[in-house]
Formats: sequence, structure tokens, C-alpha cells
Amino acid sequence: MIDVPAFHQALGVLPVIVIDDEAYAHQLAEALASGGLPSGEVTLRTAAALGAIREMAQVPGFVVGAGTVVHPSQVEHAIAAGAHYVVSPGFGPAVSRECATLGIPLIPGVATATEIQTARDAGWSVLKFFPAAAAGGARMVSALSAPFPDVRFVPTGGIGLATMQEYLEIPSVLAVGGTWIAPQAMIRSAAFDQIAQLAAGATALAKEMRCPSS
Ligand code: 3PG
Repeated sequence: MIDVPAFHQALGVLPVIVIDDEAYAHQLAEALASGGLPSGEVTLRTAAALGAIREMAQVPGFVVGAGTVVHPSQVEHAIAAGAHYVVSPGFGPAVSRECATLGIPLIPGVATATEIQTARDAGWSVLKFFPAAAAGGARMVSALSAPFPDVRFVPTGGIGLATMQEYLEIPSVLAVGGTWIAPQAMIRSAAFDQIAQLAAGATALAKEMRCPSS
């Protein structure tokens, strides 16, 4: 059983993936892994998403999540496809209950103290801060961390290479996420070398932030 939070903490970066064609999923997973990021949250925003999760789950060592899960029925589909965890843009009690019942980790989205309390009450302590940049950025994550010392955040939404450091400096930030590592246009054009380079750049920066002396 994979320790999903520990895995993400070790990487520091979580690629968010919007994919139109599952035929590219295996190569995409390999490209991310070759750049040091054997990880991805595949958003269920496209018809190809579940098929892509199925393909990525076959890549040895690759930890794949199902994102944009907004209905409990999607949890079962995600598990059947091989997802290791579920991410939702907000906190929904029905999705939360389904994940708890089926025993799959959930990273629910939050943007306010009230939502954090609700997610905590439901038993989740790794939370997606979304949409990060629009909801107050790193300053907001810092401010929300003070009253919830046991919560770990994965800020996502409007983050890129230029701003990821601001978030990773905050001790409560487990990892930063975003689509900038594997942009949809690059996936569409099978630009896997470029994606591997973007993954390597993000990995290097996260490593430098987390272990400045190594
Ligand atoms: C998500 O679902 O986490 C966001 O859509 C990612 O946002 P980004 O495209 O700004 O990285």
C-alpha cells in the first residue's frame, strides 16, 4: 500500500493532467517519470481520462490519481481504472463518504477556514488549496496553516515554475500541483521530451527548496 502523502512530499510537485487521448498516456507517464516525477493527477474532465489512468497505472512505480472527482460514482470508476487516490476541486460529503467507504485516500479541495474544518471533521488532513493563486496565493496558505497545524496542503491552480517556490517555503505545503508541467498542448503534440524537461526543472527546484545543501 502506497503512502500517498509521503510520496507527494518526497517529490514536492504534482503534475495535473488534462488528456484528450489515452493513446498518449503511457508515454506521458514515462516522460514525467524520466524527469523525476512518477506522479500525476489525471482530471476526469475528458472522455479519455479513465483510460489514461488505466494506462498510467501499468507503468511501474507510477502513482496516479483521479482528479476533478465531483460525484461518488466516479470514485468507483477511478478505483477500477487503478487510481491510487482521488482529488476533488471542493469538499463534497458524498464523494468523501464514498472514498472512506471504499478505502481510497481523498485530497479534497478547500479555499477557506470553514471548508478546512469540514474536511478535517470528515477525517481528511491532506487538502488541495484551490484555486491557489486566485484564492490568495501563498500568503493565504500561510494564514490558513496557523489554526490547523495538522493539515498539509497541496496548492493548485495558477502556479508555475516562477511561483512554486513561494508555496514550497511554507512548512505545511506537502507539494505544489499544476498543469504547467505537462501542458495539454504538449500532450496533444506528443512533445514528451519537452514534458520530461519541464518535469526535471520542477523536480530540481523542489529538491533545491527541500534539501538546499544536497
Ligand atoms: C487543477 O485542477 O488543479 C487546476 O485546474 C490546475 O490549475 P492550473 O492549470 O492553473 O495549473
